[in-house]
Formats: sequence, structure tokens, C-alpha cells
Amino acid sequence: MSPVSRVRSLVRRRLAPLAGLAIAVLCAGQAPAGSRVEDLLAKMTLEEKIGQLNLVSGHHAVTGPYTRSDVRSAILKGEAGALFNVYGAEYTRGLQEMAVWQTRLGIPLLLGFDVLHGYRTIFPVPLAQAASWDLEAIEQSERISATEASAAGVNWIFSPMVDMSRDPRWGRVVEGAGESAWLGSRIAEARVRGLQGKSLAAADSVAACVKHFAANGATEGGREYSGGDISERALRETQLPPFKASVESGARCIMSAFNAVDGVPGVANDRLLRDILRREWGFRGIVVSDFGAVEELTVHGVADTATDAARQAFRAGTDIDMESRTYVSQLAALVRSNAVPISEIDDAVRRILQLKEDLGLFEDPYRRSVPAREASLVGNGSHFDAARTLAEKSMVLLKNERNTLPFPIAVKRVAVIGPLADAKADTLGPWAANGQPEDAVTLLGGIRRVLKVMAEDADIAFSSGGSIDRSSPADIAAAVKIAARADVVVLALGERSTMSGESASRASLDLPGDQMALARAVLALGKPTAVVLFNGRPLTIEDLDKEAPAILEAWYPGSAGGLAAARILFGLAEPQGRLPMTFPRSVGQIPIYFDQRPTGRPAGDQPKPYTTGYQDVGPRPLYSFGHGLTYTSFFLGAPRLDQPVLKQGGAVTVSVDVMNTGPRTGTAVVQLYIRHKVAKVSRPVKELKGFARVTLPPGGVGVAKIPLAEGDLAFWQPEGRFAPPEGGQISVMTGLDSDQLKATVLEYQPRDVTRQASN
Ligand code: NOJ
Repeated sequence: MSPVSRVRSLVRRRLAPLAGLAIAVLCAGQAPAGSRVEDLLAKMTLEEKIGQLNLVSGHHAVTGPYTRSDVRSAILKGEAGALFNVYGAEYTRGLQEMAVWQTRLGIPLLLGFDVLHGYRTIFPVPLAQAASWDLEAIEQSERISATEASAAGVNWIFSPMVDMSRDPRWGRVVEGAGESAWLGSRIAEARVRGLQGKSLAAADSVAACVKHFAANGATEGGREYSGGDISERALRETQLPPFKASVESGARCIMSAFNAVDGVPGVANDRLLRDILRREWGFRGIVVSDFGAVEELTVHGVADTATDAARQAFRAGTDIDMESRTYVSQLAALVRSNAVPISEIDDAVRRILQLKEDLGLFEDPYRRSVPAREASLVGNGSHFDAARTLAEKSMVLLKNERNTLPFPIAVKRVAVIGPLADAKADTLGPWAANGQPEDAVTLLGGIRRVLKVMAEDADIAFSSGGSIDRSSPADIAAAVKIAARADVVVLALGERSTMSGESASRASLDLPGDQMALARAVLALGKPTAVVLFNGRPLTIEDLDKEAPAILEAWYPGSAGGLAAARILFGLAEPQGRLPMTFPRSVGQIPIYFDQRPTGRPAGDQPKPYTTGYQDVGPRPLYSFGHGLTYTSFFLGAPRLDQPVLKQGGAVTVSVDVMNTGPRTGTAVVQLYIRHKVAKVSRPVKELKGFARVTLPPGGVGVAKIPLAEGDLAFWQPEGRFAPPEGGQISVMTGLDSDQLKATVLEYQPRDVTRQASN
């Protein structure tokens, strides 16, 4: 090592830890803590300011069509206020040291990463988590994700993804919370709380970045990166609520979307970014573009040059340019030519520095980059247990004819068949951050673990039956051979995890390859057989549903997923999940979701001419929103109101008697839907407004109590604001899914009718 390198190394290893303290002392000596941001801003050159508006990708993960940088040179040139796709305590510490010690003002870095369902301990994919209908468990999973990611130096997470998912052809439905704006909003709040923790400055907290603003899920035909034509009502009532809920929960970052809304791409959409997000909702955090989206304005055909793209995106309110480098190459000239006011640059930089301040980065840039913390927290055993519990809560028992499940624990011969039975990467899912496939317990591994303890002599035979894309006759014959000898058969079918996620739209939602042929051959044996599905979206499995006696939707269940599924199959855990997204019978039914608007000619149960629907497929989905069976059965009473009338500013409590009428302990998820009987604009046939989980032993009785407040009745009024109707009757419906509901009527009387009459 040369003397120069030795000195550098000494500085890095010995003195660097003091750098944060030094900055704190220097800054504290100059001004009160609150004005550190203003002090810095006053010292910055225009180029240094623009450097703060640039976000550069590292090489630890590839999350876009290109990576072109050396992050170190970007830091040294002062061109990177933030990096993403970098992690690891040691590595991120080195990067922070470089920013702190080797740039003029020593401003630490925002370090972002896509941690959508776990950092190293991988939880079920977000759509699966939504199926748990368990907000506390979801919040806890985010707390763990934040704890692990922050122990690896990450201080900013590109999650939650709160786009509404109404077209399962779109691969990104796997990242969201499904089709209900109400459920999606509650889940968004839980995720933001979990990621940001009680104090953003804590070493185990990160800033949440809510994405993709807005209407990224309103695709055309499920095509990735497409933007559908969307009405103001659909925007306000369906797409925006989870964003608004996230902002109200204190989310510090919003990612603007690739797609256009009414012809204006998200990154340059000043109506969305300035009028709605900042002015209407009072958002004070930062806005980051999606990957390369600033320069893509020229491809959209709304900007003719990179200069124009930078101007439009920045002036619309996108503070940070993710990876397109358009801000660093264009903004300085735009400021000098007065096309961009310096005051707007200052405001954006101020917001970014304030976030760094609130994350505690000026006080101690290295608090999240401590190798010993990383070693003890990342992949911790208790995190694996939490991942298993959430996976169990997320799995949805779609069908269970003749009580095929649970299988007897004293089973002798088990055949485990299918291309997804022992697929480690697919068990984790498509956006598994730093999850390692070798850590994943597959379904085969889970069955082995469970039976090793519970049925030591059990013989477990495995055959993949081919691959996800193809099964030869010999593959199918090998599978049938082991199934023929078995007492029970488990068929693990579904999609490769890369068939879901970004850039993974599908035109067909059938089981890929020859899996249906494999399933038919095995099911023809008539053995007690359970299909376990691994997939990131609703699939069209009507044929499978006709032929298989039991189907468990496992989604991509994460690190402990195979163990969770095995525990459910053999009755050590109850299936508890309920679908957050409708399963269509055929692609032709899409879009199909529970809160559709009425028509003047609704479909009945029997096909009838001149009613809505299709000639060749019925009006109902295969499995409705909210559907999910248990190993027990429940009787639900009709909904009862604690008062028949809801007054202005008031709330009622809806109570539902629940009885466990089956043989096992189970959890009922009692769901509450409403419908405005008459309103100025036609309202959806049902809207989810609440739910309660009630766990009961066999024979146990309980009461689900669900609040319903005046605010729950509000909708987007023709005059352009959210408000409840002027009064009238509301159907209040409750049940175990969105299809089988019992109803009562609530009178909504915002004004005192007796007083009005006497006036
Ligand atoms: C593009 C995706 O749309 C977004 O969700 C993600 O956060 C960025 N790439 C960064 O990886």
C-alpha cells in the first residue's frame, strides 16, 4: 500500500466515524439545529444543488433497462445526492464516507432500494399479504423489512406500491394490495407506519416512497407502462385514495409514475404533483421520478428535447431524477436562462436536505451502516418466524370438496408433484430484494420438515412433472407413477416468479406450459389431491377448479412459504386468507371486480336476454373478492345497527353475530359493504368499508363489531369534491365474502328533519 493510500485508509477507518460528529459540531456552532438545512443551502453552488436532485443506480440490483454509472465517480463529482440499488453495511458506509469526506460540503447520501416484501427475510408478495386482511401483521412485516434493510445501510425504500389492481394481465398486480381502494388505503397506512417507525431518525427506520403516482394500475389491456383513459371519478374514487391515505400517514416520498393521465405523463403532471399532491393534500415530502422517466418524456412525445423534458418534469414538481441524468445535464442551463426559477431549485433541495436531516444523516451518517448490527439483524430467526406466520395468514383456500384438506398427519405415503414444488427462487417471488433463494423453504422442504416431526416414517416421493413451460409424456408418466403409489398427492402448479412483477404482463392467464395436462393425468387417479398454486395474480383456472378437489392459493409466499403451506396442508395451521382480487373465469371477463357500477339491465343468476354480460360466459367470477374457505364453518347473523339513523358527523356500529359451527378453531373475516340506494351519480353495487377478524373455537360464538362513519359514505360529487350524499338510505351488507351478503338499511340524515320542518 502506498503512503497516500495508507493515509486515506487511516482516515477512512479511524477518523470517518467522527465525521458525523464533526459536521454536527460545526453546524451546531453556526446555527440552531433547525437551520442546518438553510445554512447548507446558502453555501451550495448551483451545480451542488442540482447534484442533490440526481439519483444514480448502483450495481447490486438491476431494476431498469440500463445501468450506466460508476457510483463512486458520481459522488466525487458531486452529481449524486442519492443512490439506489446499493446495500450492505460495509459498502454503504464507504459510500457515505466518500460523500461526507470527499465532497466540498460533506452532505450524506440518501440510499434507496426496492424492498417490497422483505430485504433478506422475504415475506409473501404484497398481493398475498393483502389476502391476510391483517393490518397489524402487515405493519410488523414492514417493521422487520425496514430493520433489515436499514441495518444494511438503506435509508429510503421504494415501497409501498399502492396502485390499484383491476386487471390481472398486468404483472405488477403482485406488488399491490388488490382491487379495493378502501382495503388498499388501510394497507398503505400500515406499510408506511411499519417502514417509517416511530421516529425517522431511528437506526431501524427508513423513509417510505409511495408509488406510482398516479393511476399506474389503470392500464390498457394490462399492458405494462400503458396508461388507460381514466375519468376524474375513477381517479378520485379508485386510484388516488391509497396515495392520500399514505400522505396522511406521514409518507415522506412519492414516486411519480411512468404512465400518462389524460395525456400527461406522471413525471410531468403538474395537476397531479402540484395541485392535488401538494396543494390539496398538503404533502411536504420529496417527489422522485420513476426509472428514466424524465428523459422518456421525449418518447411519450410531450417534450422535443432533453432540455424540455428536464424543464417540464422539474417544473411540474418532480424533485429527483431517477437515473436518466437529464437534470444534471440540463437544469443548470435552464436556471441560467431563467426557464427554471432558482427558488424552485432551492425548494426541492430544501426538501431533500430536510429529509436527510430527519433521517438523522447529518447527525450520524453511519448509524445504519454498522456491520455488527447487520450481522445480528439481517435474516434473524425471529424474522423467519414472522414471515412464516404471515405466509400462513396469506394463503387462501379456494376450494375444499369433501374436506380433502387437511390431510391426516399420520399419513404414510405422500407424492409431491409439480414444477413449483421445489423451486426456491419462485418461492421467494419476483421482487425479492436481497433474498437468497438458498434460504427459501420450498413446499417439498416444508412437507419434509413437517412430516419429519409429525410422521417420521412417512415416505415422501417427489417428481417435478416437467418444467413450468413444458412437460413431456415421460415427465407426466413419472409423476403419475409416484402419485399412484401415494395416499395423498400435492400438486404444486403456477407461474414462474418472473412472469409477475414489472415488465411481466401476460395475455393469457391460464396455467403456463403443460401443467393442466399434468394436473389432469394426476387427478384422474382419484387420489385425495390438493393443488397448491404459486403465482402473483389471479389466474383463469376454471378447468382446474372443476377437476381438483382442493386448491390452496399460496401466491409467492417468501422465505418460509413452503413451511407455511405444508403446515396448512397437514392441519397444523388454519387457512386464513381472503382474496383481495377477483379471479375471473376467462380473460374475456376482465375487468371484473366487486365494486362495479350498476347497469340499467343487471344480470340475474340465470342467463336472460337483454341483460348485461356475455353470451358465452356467465356474469359471475370464478372466485369473488373476499372469498376464502377455512377448515371449519361459520354461521353469520344479519347485520345489526346500534342506531338506525346516522346524523351529521356521526358514526354507527354494525354488529354481526358469528358462530363457529364446524369442528375446528377458525378465523372468520366478516366484511362490511355498503350501497347508496339512490344518489346523484350511480354508485357501485357494493363498496367495502370495513371488516373484523373473529377467531372462535368449535361451537364458539362472538360478535364482529365494525364502525361505519359519515366519512365512509362520501364519494366524488359532480361539483368536484368528496362529500357524503344529501341524505337517504344506505344498504349495509355483511358476509364472509363479497358475494353472499345479508343486508339491513341505514337512514342517513345529515340535517335535523324535525328542526327543518318547524323552521
Ligand atoms: C421501476 C419501477 O417502476 C419502480 O417501481 C422501481 O422503484 C424503480 N424501477 C427502481 O427500481
